[in-house]
Amino acid sequence: MNAIFKRKSIRTFKDKDVEDEKIERLVKAGMQAPTALDTQPWEFIIVKDKSNLKIISEMSPYSGFAKNAALCIITLFKLNSFRDRETFVWMQQDMSACTENILLQAVDEGLGAVWLGTYPDDERVNYLGQQFEIPNGIIPFSVIAIGYPKEDYQADDKFDKSRIHYESY
Ligand SMILES: Cc1cc2nc3c(=O)[nH]c(=O)nc-3n(C[C@H](O)[C@H](O)[C@H](O)COP(=O)(O)O)c2cc1C
Repeated sequence: MNAIFKRKSIRTFKDKDVEDEKIERLVKAGMQAPTALDTQPWEFIIVKDKSNLKIISEMSPYSGFAKNAALCIITLFKLNSFRDRETFVWMQQDMSACTENILLQAVDEGLGAVWLGTYPDDERVNYLGQQFEIPNGIIPFSVIAIGYPKEDYQADDKFDKSRIHYESY
């Protein structure tokens, strides 16, 4: 089974560090994503410090478990990567592909991860911007909480044949 079918959101983690080589491969996987017009608009903040993980855990009512993660990766996009508005419309797809690549690489590395929704929630975006001293023009897109899964897990099978249409709807 490949990473796509093994992946599920993991929210409880072992108290164990993730090796730096693995962290580098996670970010490398993110940077390997396809982007419209090959924009590659991303930057990343790696967060390992416990007090910074706690800050992320307070970003929203749905991010509490980040405080027990080994690390979080904040994905960011640079506004000036986009030539014009027409290019910018693809940003969310570019950054989602990047985020998903990191989630899948985490599975390959024996890690568990969960995507914490950030952009376009202004409150969360501004909160991270202030807490992590992110300059103007660089915008947080997602946070991925990562660690060794506390328990063995199995992904749900979400396949549903009725959603598939052939040739026309
Ligand atoms: C854009 C986006 C935002 C999400 N935000 C959160 C979040 O803030 N907190 C959380 O626990 N899970 C979050 N998730 C994970 C979803 O809850 C999860 O993917 C969904 O329940 C399906 O479960 P699975 O990932 O195990 O297949 C988010 C997922 C996406 C794609």
